[in-house]
Amino acid sequence: MGAIDYQSRIPNNVRLDDDKRLQRALERWQPDYLRWWQDMGPDGFQTKDVYLRTAISADKDGWAHFDYVKMPDYRWGIFLAEAEPDRTIHFGDHIGEPAWQEVPGEYRTMLRRIIVTQGDTEPASVEQQRRLGQTAPSLYDLRNLFQVNVEEGRHLWAMVYLLHSYFGKEGRDEADELLARRSGDADKPRILDAFNQPCTDWLSFFCFTMFADRDGKYQLASLAESGFDPLGRTCRFMLTEEAHHMFVGDTGLERIIRRAAELTAQDPNGDARALGGIDLPTIQKFINFWLSYCLDLFGSEISTNAADYFGHSLKGRFGEAKRYTEHTALGQHRTMDVIRDGKLTQEDVALRLAMNEELRDGYIDECDNAVRRWNKAIAEYGVNFELTVPNRRFHRRQGLYSTHLFNPQGEIIDAATWDRRMPDWLPSESDKAYVRSLMQPVYEPGKVANWIAPPRRGINDQPMDFAYVRFD
Ligand SMILES: [Fe+2]
Ligand SMILES: [Fe+2]
Repeated sequence: MGAIDYQSRIPNNVRLDDDKRLQRALERWQPDYLRWWQDMGPDGFQTKDVYLRTAISADKDGWAHFDYVKMPDYRWGIFLAEAEPDRTIHFGDHIGEPAWQEVPGEYRTMLRRIIVTQGDTEPASVEQQRRLGQTAPSLYDLRNLFQVNVEEGRHLWAMVYLLHSYFGKEGRDEADELLARRSGDADKPRILDAFNQPCTDWLSFFCFTMFADRDGKYQLASLAESGFDPLGRTCRFMLTEEAHHMFVGDTGLERIIRRAAELTAQDPNGDARALGGIDLPTIQKFINFWLSYCLDLFGSEISTNAADYFGHSLKGRFGEAKRYTEHTALGQHRTMDVIRDGKLTQEDVALRLAMNEELRDGYIDECDNAVRRWNKAIAEYGVNFELTVPNRRFHRRQGLYSTHLFNPQGEIIDAATWDRRMPDWLPSESDKAYVRSLMQPVYEPGKVANWIAPPRRGINDQPMDFAYVRFD
């Protein structure tokens, strides 16, 4: 099962050859996908050789193969993690039943919505990032951007495979719609808000891969638990790709933060901007912006949808099988901060209704850990500044906390205070313009833009001055 068939027009490890109807349907979708990639994928660079990894096997060890590939020739395909024999459903109301190999009729609409919502984020991020190649701070970063982009393209394939295989005509129509919506478009926007935000500078790109791709990790991990086995196996393999995206975001931010601290220490007035860097307060504002948008992606704090997804054994908690001993989540509660009469107070919420919030907890913990690491890096330069993770209530546009204004500490504030303080908390037009002004491409092997520290090591043990993208 692990080995991937690269002889077929659509690389796969799902024996696509055995299902001619499905194969033909996907082969009809393939040229539309490639057209979308040409129109909405990376702007320029399509004829360049890029040092990319390609999956050779979907099992646990050594699935990656590195070589120069022109992006349109990347072998996008359908890779599922290996099936576990006799897998049974391990949470929700269907505990103990054999895992579903076909879509249960009563959950058809719900599952389709889950898959379409996930699928929509994949091409959206490629669209958001399409012009970043023109301002890459190094060839190493340029290559990482393109690796993320081709894999998001493959994630779209993963969801389209599920739609085509299991949802008939409706699924095929949804697959077409996934290529028709456009990030940020007024008439046909992408489904989720964070995926309609422009991502036109590299600080935003690293925030995006740190925070939005990390939401992706949490969503995929909870879907990897699904009672619908093909969805679970698809998501399990996607998670291995997602890990690299988060690595790009985490290390990218860390390198900007290091450089910011270094320049702050060097400048007599402690002003990183005076030496052409991005200052730490600006980095904090970008973190606040992207993290708060990404917290919205988890959905409402109290959610009957989330309760249904869990109850129907469609979407588990993060690490449901490994981290929990009780898997029905019935008769249990979670204490939640709610707003009553304009004040924060605590209430007990049935655990199933709080599943989105449970997922958000783990995500915020990971963000906390990263910020702690970054603060250690700042301290190494003797700079007195600490980055923080804004409170989960800050700057929310969806859910329980979107009805009031909160400061980054999570306290309710009035509109006048918000208006006065907002320039300290979120990137202003001049902050964005400053960051944009630094975005000048560096395409010389081994060289890195002034506002970011060099990476600690190359990709696949290649040296730093390796030509990760070839320009001749
Ligand atoms: Fe993805
Ligand atoms: Fe990703």
